[in-house]
Amino acid sequence: METSPLAILSTALLVTLYFFFHHLRRRKAPKLPPGPPPLPIIGNLHQLANPPHRCLHSLAKSYGPIMFLRFGNKPTVVVSSPEVAELVLRTHDSILSSRPSLDAVRHLSYGNKGMALADNGAYWRGMRRICMLQLLSPAKVESFAPMRREELGRVFGRVRAAAAAREAVDVSAEVAQLIGDLACRMILGYSTRDKFNLKPVMLQALRLAQAFNLADYVPLLGALDLQGMTRRAKALNRALDKVLEDIMREHEEDTTGKYKGDFIDTLLADMGHPINSSSQDEPVHILGRTNIKAIALDMFAGSYESSAVAIEWAMSELIRHPHTMKRLQQELEAVIGLGRTVEESDLPKLEYLEMVVKESLRLYPPGPLLLPHESTEGVEIGGYYIPKGTRVLVNAWALGRDANAWTENAEEFLPERFENSSVDVKGRDFHLIPFGSGRRGCPGMNMGLVNVRLVLAQLVHCFDWELPEGTSPSELDMSEGIGLSMLREKHLILRPSYRLLV
Ligand code: HEM
Repeated sequence: METSPLAILSTALLVTLYFFFHHLRRRKAPKLPPGPPPLPIIGNLHQLANPPHRCLHSLAKSYGPIMFLRFGNKPTVVVSSPEVAELVLRTHDSILSSRPSLDAVRHLSYGNKGMALADNGAYWRGMRRICMLQLLSPAKVESFAPMRREELGRVFGRVRAAAAAREAVDVSAEVAQLIGDLACRMILGYSTRDKFNLKPVMLQALRLAQAFNLADYVPLLGALDLQGMTRRAKALNRALDKVLEDIMREHEEDTTGKYKGDFIDTLLADMGHPINSSSQDEPVHILGRTNIKAIALDMFAGSYESSAVAIEWAMSELIRHPHTMKRLQQELEAVIGLGRTVEESDLPKLEYLEMVVKESLRLYPPGPLLLPHESTEGVEIGGYYIPKGTRVLVNAWALGRDANAWTENAEEFLPERFENSSVDVKGRDFHLIPFGSGRRGCPGMNMGLVNVRLVLAQLVHCFDWELPEGTSPSELDMSEGIGLSMLREKHLILRPSYRLLV
């Protein structure tokens, strides 16, 4: 059979068109960000070492500021430059602001019923609005000033006694105790010294929430609970629930007004009201006991360690930099004198203190990888495709040390870099985001900053500090502990001497 030239021509045309469009489709096919090749089943889990922010930073040096990994079967993107962080947390914030649901944590947190772990939707928006307006507003933060003064006075008394006895002080433990007491009193109306001591259970819950759970990455193993984490999470939730119920009941039965204004009291007054307005895709949720307990846990988790971690690293750097410590003391002397202690109203006048706090949060963000975000749709970022359901980790620790943004002395502790600079920690400058940025940015930032500034100012104003004999400032061990929050590996132990005239 003879083939006509027309048939040959049209077949050739069809083949050419097929390859042309195929090539075009392939070119348009979304490309995942670069990353190390994954192994079957575990993906890149074998490449994850402690501390995770450092390990992901060194991987990013090979694969770039937007890097794709698989942790088990979970697609994960790690962001390590201010430019990409801005794309994630500002430009595409609405798509990248959900949270992954983590197995054990879900059992701890009443099925993600608080704010911090809820999916991005009407429920989370409603919970966040309640927290921002009723618990964490500037007026509410201000209303706890007398309580902060009282608790700080207690620590001050203990440290002064140690100074008189020429004894060393475990600064890490004192600061952790203080921040824990402040959180308990603000949320529950009790301090950790009182009868409902939530602290030990809460600390166990925090450690469990931060621990690595294989079930989150290889869901097939979830039902087996090989590490026993689901079992422990359920038991801890039962223990927390019992204490929280007792505390709520005591609030409800109280007629003396002693709990007025704490978070439980404020939320109980709102019980029965809608959390969100009705929308097409979500029913109206009503604020009930479970929601209140879940918010209380979020507030604990958010405030319990973060400010303490920030204070202990700032103190550590001040000890390593005696000139900076001197300059800060001189500012405190000039603004306050030696005849009284620091008041919260002094804080706005303490410009150098502000620089020290920024510099410390730059080098030691208490949540170095923020909290994990998750994409609710596929989205293109910086020329790469991020599929729906991808976890997104923003390495705030790496952004704070980015040599392009901070020049070659990025690793140095140098508060003076903020002199005449408008850069701040509030989420507009993507090379300095210790509180995150955008719709999931930290709602407790104002409270956290007051805690850090006030405690640091008080410690430095009231006392001179030195390392125990035989250690020079440059020898201070600055190792980070294991885990997701940037705790020091070793407690900071210092010898105080009192320097005020009162
Ligand atoms: C120095 C102190 C603090 C630091 C450095 C800090 C840092 C952060 C960071 C990095 C995030 C995650 C942002 C993201 O995922 O993009 C966050 C979220 C959060 N923080 Fe803070 N925080 C501090 C203090 C506090 C305090 C005092 C509270 C409450 C009393 C609090 C409550 C929360 C809550 C509830 C969230 C979750 C918000 C959401 O998912 O919508 N934080 N914080």
